[in-house]
Amino acid sequence: MGASKILVIGSINMDLVLRVPYIPQVGETLLGSSVERIPGGKGANQAVTAAKLGANVSMLGKVGGDEFGIPLIDNLRQAGVHADRIDLVPAASSGLAVIQVNDEGDNSIVVLAGANDLCSKDYILDHEELIKEAEIVILQMEIPHEAVYQAIDLANKHRKTVLLNPAPAPDFIPDAILGKLDYLIPNETELQKLSGQPVDSIAAAEDAAKVLLSKGVSNLIITLGSNGSLYVSANGAVHVPARAVKAVDTTAAGDSFVAAFAVGLSEGKSVQEAIAFATKVSSIVVTKAGAQTSIPNRSEVDALA
Ligand code: RIB
Repeated sequence: MGASKILVIGSINMDLVLRVPYIPQVGETLLGSSVERIPGGKGANQAVTAAKLGANVSMLGKVGGDEFGIPLIDNLRQAGVHADRIDLVPAASSGLAVIQVNDEGDNSIVVLAGANDLCSKDYILDHEELIKEAEIVILQMEIPHEAVYQAIDLANKHRKTVLLNPAPAPDFIPDAILGKLDYLIPNETELQKLSGQPVDSIAAAEDAAKVLLSKGVSNLIITLGSNGSLYVSANGAVHVPARAVKAVDTTAAGDSFVAAFAVGLSEGKSVQEAIAFATKVSSIVVTKAGAQTSIPNRSEVDALA
């Protein structure tokens, strides 16, 4: 396994996870069965995944000066992520996500950005060196979009491979940014929002992906939950089925897929091999509860047939 350099730029949250029989309706009061605090945040989940799979990973992001800030950074370090450039902002609260998980393992998530919102363009510019040192840069959209776009500009300037997981999806991403992405990795909902087209089948996902290809994205990989994923490029579309597992909690399934795909690429796997590897990793993640508590070690992944 090579010592690949991956830089993850993004959110770090403490997840407050409530187990509920089903996701409540508007106006409904429901009894949950448990509550837990589990480290999460799309960026941090991706950094932890890549590190646990054996990559050399650094992360840029911010936490607050509350009781969660230091444990969140410690947790990243324990997983093997280089966290020296993560800022602890004493006057801010750490990012917080309230997550309801139902009996089928599906979730609904509300995020309070807290310190994540302080990841500014200047913070990214101050760390251009880290972007320069990386081989692959991974971004999501839980930090200010202008900071995400700044990082994409710099990564492009230094000819790095850029992966954007557009979660949560904005209404649009400027074409000039789309043209700088090597891989855009949305789920169905995110693709629907970005393309302006319905995504209710695999064929519809391919059509919607073509809208974004025409705007300059080089490759799209659409994650389709239990339907697997769809890789769409100028060469056509390839559907990769999911592995059949009993889902306990789908939190971080998408995050782990994105990071595992990046690790696969950094190890010299082809795109389709990297997708197969990512599919394996996320199939393990959904069988365990929580975000970072569900991320497997490399040995666990390699043991899967
Ligand atoms: O993708 C899952 C993540 O979304 C959670 O860990 C939560 O913090 C939110 O960022």
